[in-house]
Amino acid sequence: MSSFDNIREILEKGNVVALTGAGISEESGITTFRGKEGIWEKFNPAIYANIPGLIGVFVFRPGRMRDFILEFYETIHNAKPNKAHYILLEMEKRGILNCVITQNVDNLHERAGSKNVIELHGNMIRFRCMKCKKEYTLDEKGLKELVHNLKRASRFQIIKLILPRCNCGGRYRPDVVLFGEALPQDEFTKAYMEIERANSLLLIGTSGIVYPAASLPYYAKEKGIMIIEINPSYTPLSRLADYTIFEKAAEAMPRIFE
Ligand code: OAD
Repeated sequence: MSSFDNIREILEKGNVVALTGAGISEESGITTFRGKEGIWEKFNPAIYANIPGLIGVFVFRPGRMRDFILEFYETIHNAKPNKAHYILLEMEKRGILNCVITQNVDNLHERAGSKNVIELHGNMIRFRCMKCKKEYTLDEKGLKELVHNLKRASRFQIIKLILPRCNCGGRYRPDVVLFGEALPQDEFTKAYMEIERANSLLLIGTSGIVYPAASLPYYAKEKGIMIIEINPSYTPLSRLADYTIFEKAAEAMPRIFE
């Protein structure tokens, strides 16, 4: 029996939870955060992943600020879900996958059609009012327009586009978690509850170095849950995993279910 057969057998038993990271979207054309050419290689997260840093960049280098925002929205706009996203959807439809817990903000699980998605770090195309908490999500057309307008935006237009006014007088912002910000507690509680009742945890494309998301596999291990990792590289989570497939997600996932 190959490890692919063993993994299939484990997953077919059902009660699977997936924890995904940037690697699952790599074959959709979105470079991982820490990979070669990744966004944190081009934009230092010590500056760009927190509010004080972003304010500084906006004041002194608005063009660079626009490049950073555009980098996210343009890649998300150009990306499409890949086989790995669709296999998770199929697993959900068949009733063997309870949910996808994702650290990704690219909306690709939802675009593939997955219904039970727990977003630990928010979603770039959803905007939330900082005052009244009202939310809206960009559709395909809205995202296209945002990318188009950002390319031509002056310093103050960038603010209008990325922090638009709400009827309540407050401003919306992209509903994502920056470094130093509180994580959505409800989502974390849901994630822990899902792991609590799972039989197996499928880790796909995460470096496992950003906490508290990376604590979830340790919790699963403590509970004695079977852990299967898919990642072309060794990660700190590999030593927890019962099986690691050192391959890309969109190649390994179809091989498991072929
Ligand atoms: P990283 O960029 O840290 O790690 C991506 C992982 O995906 C690495 O372990 C790669 O080896 C692996 N990988 C690359 N290509 C792959 C492929 N085709 N298939 C499968 N795996 C592949 O991304 P995350 O672990 O998601 O947080 O990063 C976690 C958090 O750090 C992000 O959510 C973000 C970031 O800063 C916030 O923005 C708050």
